[in-house]
Amino acid sequence: MKCLVFGTTGQLGIELAQRSPAGVELVALGRDVADLTDPAAIADAIARTDADVIMNAAAYTAVDRAESDEATAMAVNGAAPTAMARAAAARGLPFLHVSTDYVFDGTGSAPWPVDAPTGPLGAYGRSKLAGEQGIAAAGGQYAILRTSWVFSAHGNNFVKTMLRLGTERETLTIVGDQVGGPTAAADIADALYTMAAAFHRGTGRSGVYHFSGAPDVSWADFAREIFRQAGLAPAVTDIGTADYPTPARRPGNSRLDCRETQAVFGISRPDWRISLQAVLAELKA
Ligand SMILES: NC(=O)c1ccc[n+]([C@@H]2O[C@H](COP(=O)([O-])OP(=O)(O)OC[C@H]3O[C@@H](n4cnc5c(N)ncnc54)[C@H](OP(=O)(O)O)[C@@H]3O)[C@@H](O)[C@H]2O)c1
Repeated sequence: MKCLVFGTTGQLGIELAQRSPAGVELVALGRDVADLTDPAAIADAIARTDADVIMNAAAYTAVDRAESDEATAMAVNGAAPTAMARAAAARGLPFLHVSTDYVFDGTGSAPWPVDAPTGPLGAYGRSKLAGEQGIAAAGGQYAILRTSWVFSAHGNNFVKTMLRLGTERETLTIVGDQVGGPTAAADIADALYTMAAAFHRGTGRSGVYHFSGAPDVSWADFAREIFRQAGLAPAVTDIGTADYPTPARRPGNSRLDCRETQAVFGISRPDWRISLQAVLAELKA
């Protein structure tokens, strides 16, 4: 199976490159050859590929910056994946895309089912939802994998921020009223390869799927586990979202109901605490 992947430098793009299973050939395109603000370049790459499956690991992920730059977020997260899906559909190729818990408004405390009403609180969530809608309307085979709280040894993420702050400070205040599933980029990469293989052999089913690490925790409890595993001991105090103002509003409830992903693809929620051990070991090495 040959996979064409958009995105080489992000958390997920790096893990897709590092974890391609035996029998999978990967062709990964970076911004230099496929800039996501240029839909024609994307369509051209897909029109010329001899790949069996198309995946998108690239996105505009700067949640706060998107509030003042929604046009770019919309181009990269909305128009680009739509162009990918249309070009893939024209070639009869399955398209796998990654989306986010930020398409939900974060109310309540129940895990969001895949068909729950969306209601993004900010520009990033709106742009990712636009991408989802464009892909679904493109008319081809597709899977949209919504995930949350992504971490890895690469790029900027909560784990790396906590490791830095944990060595710099003795006390930290961290948001305790946002709850979700931390998810290792490595686990998302593995899930995408499993889904790609299913589509390749004809057992995939188009739709929206959820995938996040278990158990669900608050950011404060995620931080406590990072510090425990890293042997750091800053005192962590929970604060409310209201006490930590950011340009973009964030959902309080980011729990994702992942049962459909298990039922259709046999992919279960990974224990993020185990994936965190691997990331900390990678950072140490
Ligand atoms: N990070 C999270 O916590 C989180 C949570 C939920 C869902 N997600 C979703 O998970 C997926 C993977 O996220 P990630 O954390 O791996 O993202 P990331 O580390 O921020 O990487 C983003 C990637 O997109 C590329 N990119 C951005 N703008 C581009 C453009 N105009 N043209 C070409 N490439 C461009 C970047 O390339 P450059 O290096 O060239 O900029 C980079 O490779 C995304 O769909 C994201 O929305 C992420």
